[in-house]
Amino acid sequence: MNMGREITVAELDTDRFIATQVAEIQRAVGQGTALNALSGGVDSAVVTLLGHQALGERLRTVCIDNGLMRQGEPERVVELFGGLGVPVELVDARQEFLQALAGITDPEAKREAITQTFYRDVFGRMVRQSDARHLLQGTILTDIDETVAGVKRQHNVFAQLGIDPQAVFGYSILEPLIQLRKDGVRKVGAALGLPGEIFQRVPFPGPALAARVIGEVTPERLGTVRQATVIVERLLQDTGAFQYMAILHEDRVTGMCDGRRAFGQQIEVRCWDSVDARSATPTRLPFETLEELGRQIVRAVPGVVSVTYNITTKPPSTIEAI
Ligand code: XMP
Repeated sequence: MNMGREITVAELDTDRFIATQVAEIQRAVGQGTALNALSGGVDSAVVTLLGHQALGERLRTVCIDNGLMRQGEPERVVELFGGLGVPVELVDARQEFLQALAGITDPEAKREAITQTFYRDVFGRMVRQSDARHLLQGTILTDIDETVAGVKRQHNVFAQLGIDPQAVFGYSILEPLIQLRKDGVRKVGAALGLPGEIFQRVPFPGPALAARVIGEVTPERLGTVRQATVIVERLLQDTGAFQYMAILHEDRVTGMCDGRRAFGQQIEVRCWDSVDARSATPTRLPFETLEELGRQIVRAVPGVVSVTYNITTKPPSTIEAI
């Protein structure tokens, strides 16, 4: 694990950073092979390219379809990286994740279920079935900070919690981006030649849509938040905001469907201005945009009768709801 001091975006020399990390991956993996978890987010995309520079065909890049991703996302990730000359294997683990999440409502318990399914079950199996002994992943400094501060346990943090992945899961985890924050990762992504579509992508959390479902994560509830996400991302993509999302609430409210009373579901929209996700303020969206969000979400997402907009800053809010 490559823990060190923070490298701020101002002091980041991307060429030197890339050369150092490539050499470090080569040193750690030696003549062996490694696995690389690609979700399609900025962090894992950058790690994938670093890993490829370092190991070439000795790196096996997999995209785990955990059933929690956005509409069409796993297929898009495979296609995009294929276009960059990086073959990506799509692994269907949807049932495993959904079963692990069934019946759980506590946010930290959900995160733990995702962590165990991802690292112990899915990657544990892959490692046992291959000769790979290392997993490359895109943990960044903000993930560590929030976990250590006890704000929320990020799904991808171990050593800082006293957990040795080698002992627990049977493989080591390499984290080339651990000294950077999101703005630094983007700068490295640009220097690596990633298309803007990827390195400028709005951040998306490892626990994916499960971080945006309050209460139990079921296929139906995921379907609801996934549909609302399509609309939120379409309507807010040109705002220049740091991150935006739809959240499905557990509480129901009285509304109307087809002129009759319906005790319906609520979607909360969040849209954040931020530099590095450590603090954030709600974007001052035009009221017309908010109205359009409300109109389109209730029209397109069955069962939703209420749409709200978050007006709280981080802190004390966090960016995701879970
Ligand atoms: P929060 O919700 O803690 O989010 O204010 C800060 C930033 O981190 C992302 N996020 C995660 N990223 N694993 C990740 O890789 C996680 O478990 C996780 N939880 C939140 C979030 O989307 C935001 O950009």
